[in-house]
Amino acid sequence: MCGIVGYIGKKEATPILIEGLSKLEYRGYDSAGVCVYNQALNLMKAKGRLAILEEKVTNNPLKGCVGIGHTRWATHGEPSDENSHPHYNEDETIALVHNGIIENYLTIKEKLETKGYTFKSETDTEVAVQLIDYYYKEKNDLLDAVITAIEEIEGSYAFAILSVDEPDKVIAVRKDSPLIIGLGDGENYIASDIPAILKHTRDMYLLEDQEIAIVREGDITILNVNKESLQRDVYHVDWDIEAAEKGGFDHFMLKEIFEQPNVVKNTLMPRLPLDQDEILLDNIKLTQSDIEKFKQIYIVACGTASYTGLVGKYLIERVSRVPVISEIASEFRYREPILDENTLMIVVSQSGETADTLAALRMAKKAGAHVIGIVNAVGSTIAREANDVLYTWAGPEIAVASTKAYSAQLCAMYLISIKIAMELGKIDTNAFKALREELYALPDKIESILKQSHKIKALADQYKSSKNIFYIGRGLDYAVSMEGALKLKEIAYLHAEPYAAGELKHGPIALIEDSSLLVGLVGQEELFDKTVSNIKEVKARGAKVLAIALEGNEAIEKTADEVIYVPRTHWYLTSILLNIPQQIFAYYIAVGLGHDVDKPRNLAKSVTVE
Ligand code: F6R
Repeated sequence: MCGIVGYIGKKEATPILIEGLSKLEYRGYDSAGVCVYNQALNLMKAKGRLAILEEKVTNNPLKGCVGIGHTRWATHGEPSDENSHPHYNEDETIALVHNGIIENYLTIKEKLETKGYTFKSETDTEVAVQLIDYYYKEKNDLLDAVITAIEEIEGSYAFAILSVDEPDKVIAVRKDSPLIIGLGDGENYIASDIPAILKHTRDMYLLEDQEIAIVREGDITILNVNKESLQRDVYHVDWDIEAAEKGGFDHFMLKEIFEQPNVVKNTLMPRLPLDQDEILLDNIKLTQSDIEKFKQIYIVACGTASYTGLVGKYLIERVSRVPVISEIASEFRYREPILDENTLMIVVSQSGETADTLAALRMAKKAGAHVIGIVNAVGSTIAREANDVLYTWAGPEIAVASTKAYSAQLCAMYLISIKIAMELGKIDTNAFKALREELYALPDKIESILKQSHKIKALADQYKSSKNIFYIGRGLDYAVSMEGALKLKEIAYLHAEPYAAGELKHGPIALIEDSSLLVGLVGQEELFDKTVSNIKEVKARGAKVLAIALEGNEAIEKTADEVIYVPRTHWYLTSILLNIPQQIFAYYIAVGLGHDVDKPRNLAKSVTVE
């Protein structure tokens, strides 16, 4: 949530900041702003998309070679010019941008008000800059003021701070919100995420919690809060900026949907060598005896990533017979779950920065559990803090609605769950080989579903004015139905609900009327007849039925109005294939309704607040 960019060097800062912000808009787009030093701190900000700020800046250029910028996802205070970042202190000598939430901002605000401070905005961020100002007046040193202020601040933050008295530097500091420092030649950068500065440098420092970077034109110093100097390895980015560009597609989301055959290959193949009958899980060193020790497994995540967890639960329990609790992180962290050293926790996160998932991970580690992270963003906090990490090599996912990252998460979950089953002796070599063959076949099968996009687009046009949409399925299909409904809600703004197929008649069926659409998932062979019966119950009450079924199960045509077929695969792997038509369907409905597919309203890609 919220994106930060900073620049110091010899070039004009404003275009670099605006360009960087354009790559971070996925983190929030309620407002944007920049502040550039040129004898004074000159600030420009605007409510709404970055394009509005861009126009303002074009009409009134901001000159200067050091600056900070921000794109906002509103938390404290509505989206407005006044609440936009950067924020000043009262005499406009310090400017600050912030990603995160200051939980004790009211206490600090009251304290500052008693000292005579007044506030222009409703934000927690303005409190931070005024607090730094307060300590600056006492200490006359920006670094000391920042350190004293962060000792008092509770909550999460990534700050970039600029001061009129010390314009040779930008100070950056983080806790529980991401921040990276880009190394240039005679210039340096600050950003919330790699794509913002990748055009300028591939070499980065990934700041850890409570580390402070003093970023100058020709030098970067990283300190801890005791002002001790820290050595950081340079992280070299080896993917290209094109990976974060649209590449001829109308939207990032469509591009990312079409990248899935490759993403699946990247996530699976290096870990499934054909000349060895085992799965290579990177540096994960869990041995057979480690796995035998686990009495329970938690899979914890948020949103789409949590549906990967549900698939994992079905697979692991059914095959390995180990109890698995799949849970959303925001609930898990506050309900005092039972955790100990015999617990394995798998956390799943595209961004690797989701606040609730990170908190769950920390809780589990503290209780002695072993934590594996399935993470996409390399070097992110969750990746660094988990005991082990299995990267989903999906590349940068820019569209706010997750598609390719989810498919990659499913692949990672397939690998981990098969590994567990093999170590526990529940899958023998022949069964493994059969699964591996099917895993290898997934990219081509996904490709064949993508070829049906035109047909799915026509269905999307046909059903885009449906009022209530229900997604139903049993078992693994139920997990997939959750993702289908979420996709439709978030980008098409249509009311869509997932239900376990057998549950509908216990209440929700009362909502069915002629304008309803039922998306019935029938990918579980042994449950086919049961789900079809449930579909019939809904159809009999007037709903239209769109089924997603396996090739060869044409019997479904007797019940459904329309059917999208996906290739057959091992039962273990059906989820990934059944989900692809759901993605395409949601995408084209959203396009058909004229929505901003890549940046749906009210959302942000990386949810670093709880
Ligand atoms: C939906 C979506 C979200 C994320 C959720 C967790 O399309 O993308 O539901 O899955 O916010 O985010 P990560 O995976 O970054 O932890």
